[in-house]
Amino acid sequence: MTAKFITIEGIEGAGKSTQLTFIERFLSEKGKDVTVTREPGGTDLGEQIRSLLLTPTSTPMAVDTELLLMFAARAEHVQQLIKPALANNTWVISDRFTDATFAYQGGGRGIDQQRISQLADWTLSGLKPDLTFVFDLPVEMGQQRVLKRNQGIDRFEQEKVDFFEKIRACYLDRAEADPKRIKVIDASQSIEDIQIQLSSILQLLV
Ligand code: TMP
Repeated sequence: MTAKFITIEGIEGAGKSTQLTFIERFLSEKGKDVTVTREPGGTDLGEQIRSLLLTPTSTPMAVDTELLLMFAARAEHVQQLIKPALANNTWVISDRFTDATFAYQGGGRGIDQQRISQLADWTLSGLKPDLTFVFDLPVEMGQQRVLKRNQGIDRFEQEKVDFFEKIRACYLDRAEADPKRIKVIDASQSIEDIQIQLSSILQLLV
């Protein structure tokens, strides 16, 4: 069977990293070659762009700049890492991908979805995740988890509840429109319950 492309999404504090490790282990145990990556980032240049995007700025970044930097990092990621890996029969798990742009820059910043689709058509040339998990939880709960992490707060994490409510709603709308690809996981459940759900979905793919 050919390698698959899996993406992980959700608002801040949804517990993506823990589950990503679980998914990687699940696939490796099934004998798959797996590469784990992230957006923005995943390549040398992409990680430099990530740092531009996440570092708080003294004057607000223009929303179009933010959008274009996301896609610049993504173009690099798709061409240098994701497509070559899949062509080499290596499964790719990415911590975020284009759904995040629709949710954050579309839902959160208010950029027209049509404009994002145009950039996606241009830079992805048809690449689409085979499966996307959206880890969903109430915004306040996510924010509490972020604060508990006790790390610095990045440029996105500085945003207010309202911004994340719009993002959450956008993820849920996208899942409703494409339920075959996008699976919503209730991230307020116990880690064990989440992993039982993940296993049963992944089982259908391997
Ligand atoms: P992370 O904290 O999950 O690593 O993601 C980095 C931040 O970048 C997160 O706040 C979401 C944001 N982001 C976007 O706004 N648009 C995108 O397209 C991607 C991939 C991430």
